[in-house]
Amino acid sequence: ITKTSAEDLLFNYKGVLYPSTICSEELFEALEIFAARDDDLLIATYPKCGTNWVIQILHEMVSIIKNQETVFDHPMIEFGSLQTLEKHTERLSPRIFSSHLKVQMIPKSFFEKKAKILMVMRNPKDAAVSFFNFYKSMPALPTYESWNVFFKDFINGNVCYGSYFDYVAEWDKHIDEENVMVVTFEDMKTDFPTQLKKISEFMRLPLTNEQLCTVESRTSFTSMKEKSEDTHGKLGDAFFRKGQIGDWKNIFTEEQSKEVDEKFQQHLAGTKLGNLLNY
Ligand code: A3P
Repeated sequence: ITKTSAEDLLFNYKGVLYPSTICSEELFEALEIFAARDDDLLIATYPKCGTNWVIQILHEMVSIIKNQETVFDHPMIEFGSLQTLEKHTERLSPRIFSSHLKVQMIPKSFFEKKAKILMVMRNPKDAAVSFFNFYKSMPALPTYESWNVFFKDFINGNVCYGSYFDYVAEWDKHIDEENVMVVTFEDMKTDFPTQLKKISEFMRLPLTNEQLCTVESRTSFTSMKEKSEDTHGKLGDAFFRKGQIGDWKNIFTEEQSKEVDEKFQQHLAGTKLGNLLNY
């Protein structure tokens, strides 16, 4: 696959970069009047923080509750065309959506309708490494010549969807709202059963312990990687790379690690979301 230049693959909208083959300004504007339903389920994440993992979790929970295998179709609200947006109106409830948009760009109706919003956070260092590898595998994203060059762009917010630190700082202002809950990638890795129970209760998807075990096994890293081509198409494997905590230690220099720590201190020290990451 030949990649075109960064200028062709990304566009700038209000100071933030987005992939131009997937998102458009027109769609962002249309989203302002998007009508959410009160039983919609929205997953909000900065890229590479566990979006697809949680999508699959909600998908399995809904399938079990509906007692039928439902079609795996849970798009990002900001992907596609105006027609894609229109198509969402035909979907049956509960609709599962995800989005990497910063909180100010999430359609207001999700908050007004008190649709459930699940925010997933991950350590910025692991998110950065995951993002770097994802850029390499996706034809829709430009390739970086090296990790060091990518790291600079990551820390300065010159990557798709902008700065991790701004993203989290903005969401921090909303996490006390009753329709918003936060889970971390790290907590899911270390105590998956507890997090699954928390998610099912918050999302109003009540499941027995046995059903939660079924969700757990269907959403393990191995199981998701195995079915990645069915769920995510030909490039599906790229969404399930390592699925571990701490991979950053294999690639970060000490200086880069310090730079992230400083940025974290400046933007997120003392915030509720910052504290959740045990930083
Ligand atoms: P790595 O690149 O570190 O492996 P997103 O879905 O937001 O794009 O996030 C992708 C990251 O989540 C990838 O991280 C991927 O491997 C990890 N991931 C996806 N499914 C997972 C699962 N079931 N268990 C653990 N990690 C998972």
